[in-house]
Amino acid sequence: MVLNNITAFQFFGSVALGLLCFKIVNKFLPWIYVNIIGPKFLGPKLNIRSIGGWAVITGSTDGIGRSYAKALAKRGFSLVLISRSLSKLEDLAKEIENEYKVETKIIDVDFQDSVGIYDKIKAGLEGLDIGVLINNVGVSYSYPEYFLTYYQQNPKFLLDMVSVNIHSVTHMCALVLPVMLSRKKGLIINVSSSSASIPAALLSLYSGTKAFVTKFSEDLQTEYRDSGITVQCIKPGFVATKMSKIRASLSCPTPDTYVASALNMLGYTTTTPGYLPHNFLQISCDFMRYLTCEPFVSSLFLNYLLKIRKNALKRLNQKK
Ligand SMILES: NC(=O)c1ccc[n+]([C@@H]2O[C@H](COP(=O)([O-])OP(=O)(O)OC[C@H]3O[C@@H](n4cnc5c(N)ncnc54)[C@H](OP(=O)(O)O)[C@@H]3O)[C@@H](O)[C@H]2O)c1
Repeated sequence: MVLNNITAFQFFGSVALGLLCFKIVNKFLPWIYVNIIGPKFLGPKLNIRSIGGWAVITGSTDGIGRSYAKALAKRGFSLVLISRSLSKLEDLAKEIENEYKVETKIIDVDFQDSVGIYDKIKAGLEGLDIGVLINNVGVSYSYPEYFLTYYQQNPKFLLDMVSVNIHSVTHMCALVLPVMLSRKKGLIINVSSSSASIPAALLSLYSGTKAFVTKFSEDLQTEYRDSGITVQCIKPGFVATKMSKIRASLSCPTPDTYVASALNMLGYTTTTPGYLPHNFLQISCDFMRYLTCEPFVSSLFLNYLLKIRKNALKRLNQKK
């Protein structure tokens, strides 16, 4: 009887262990393929050159947007560069035309002014065979801060951030999708942020707008997958740009390194951190959530962001 019990115990134990191993392998192997083996050794699953036509990039004069502009020009795309500063747009257009021998068009708009700018963009895109849209433009807080404090200092920031981070994405998609649908192919890359899915108190409005971008992208992909449209939503951690004000390192790549990596991940999943070390940030966070609990992990991140806030305020006070 005891032997039978032990045998039954061993039997069910082995089944449970087998199921656990199956679950781990079932999750782990696809993850390794999608994030490491595929992008690193096989290259992108979607051949971006086969899409062809013009590429439209918002926020193209600096950081990640500028790197996308150059990476696409290198692959032979004609570019529509959209940003705020006309002189920076003119300089970049000249630089790209000289270096990559491709056609460029520039459109200077401030995405904070929701009213009227989309008519100007629509007119600028008229008649172009658009294959790629990079919804990159975005603004964040100058330093982590409590929502209400930021609002009291600058009430307009609520509307501005929503206009730049959300309205730009929805309106630009609405403008280019009809052309993409008529040519039965197209690629839309929406730039979200890791803050959309890891705790980001003191950046609450920014992270909220980026969570919108992620969800919108995923559902848009489902709506238009069968019409030949690919949507990729990238969720970077820190990238060394003017926005992050952080120097480049392994965990904070240059925008060129980041964009090269994200382009290699095209076609594997709709949403991706786009860069392996940023995958690990997400995984570590999920693992900590699994081992402990959400409030504990949120308070760890809060303490980290409070330290950044304290240093930023110190620097601001020293400048006064
Ligand atoms: N850097 C990071 O660590 C990081 C992390 C996660 C997500 N992201 C996301 O990545 C995207 C690009 O960020 P980035 O770091 O490359 O930014 P960045 O270096 O600050 O460059 C922003 C670009 O957007 C343009 N821009 C800003 N506000 C604009 C407005 N109101 N109207 C028109 N153009 C405007 C800028 O034009 P001007 O040159 O004229 O200012 C510039 O070309 C953003 O969506 C951001 O949220 C960045």
